[in-house]
Amino acid sequence: NAGGQDAKNLRVKLVLLGDSGVGKSCIVLRFVRGQFDPTSKVTVGASFLSQTIALQDSTTVKFEIWDTAGQERYAALAPLYYRGAAVAVIVYDITSPESFSKAQYWVKELQKHGSPDIVMALVGNKADLNEKREVAVQDGTEYAEKNGMFFIETSAKTADNINELFEEIAKRLP
Ligand code: GTP
Ligand code: MG
Repeated sequence: NAGGQDAKNLRVKLVLLGDSGVGKSCIVLRFVRGQFDPTSKVTVGASFLSQTIALQDSTTVKFEIWDTAGQERYAALAPLYYRGAAVAVIVYDITSPESFSKAQYWVKELQKHGSPDIVMALVGNKADLNEKREVAVQDGTEYAEKNGMFFIETSAKTADNINELFEEIAKRLP
């Protein structure tokens, strides 16, 4: 690798947050198993999965992923999962302005109560539904830029940008 150091094996706690139905569980399923479930059930509490990726410099990154439940009744549980997380992936649905507002709520909550050095990614999911788009790409880009976050649009359905999301996060780890 560039620095000439030995390859590293990193372990990273990552939490996914966002409104119910935006596709958090589908993003994880696509990343971990390469599958898409059009009948995905709402998450109860949270679910845990892990996946390891190798970077070009032969560093490996093991993501320990907490996929939280977006339904309002589980909102009080969120701190249990984002506490101590190195990475937060905040997801909205590009066809839902409400879910974009909810994403902004989570960004503010993490700025107040998350780890000070947390890496945050803003994800506009369901990019395959472009004909039903109600959140402009530019809205996501600008909000992310203002808040020092990485931004990407994904589709768990078509797999578009799913691996890229996790690779970009890995590159941004301190
Ligand atoms: P909660 O667990 O309640 O927080 O919801 P969630 O964010 O985990 O949503 P989930 O992944 O279960 O997906 C909700 C619905 O959106 C399911 O019907 C999925 O099939 C659908 N969905 C998820 N991702 C995509 C996508 O990229 N494109 C399209 N078209 N549909 C998607
Ligand atoms: Mg879910």
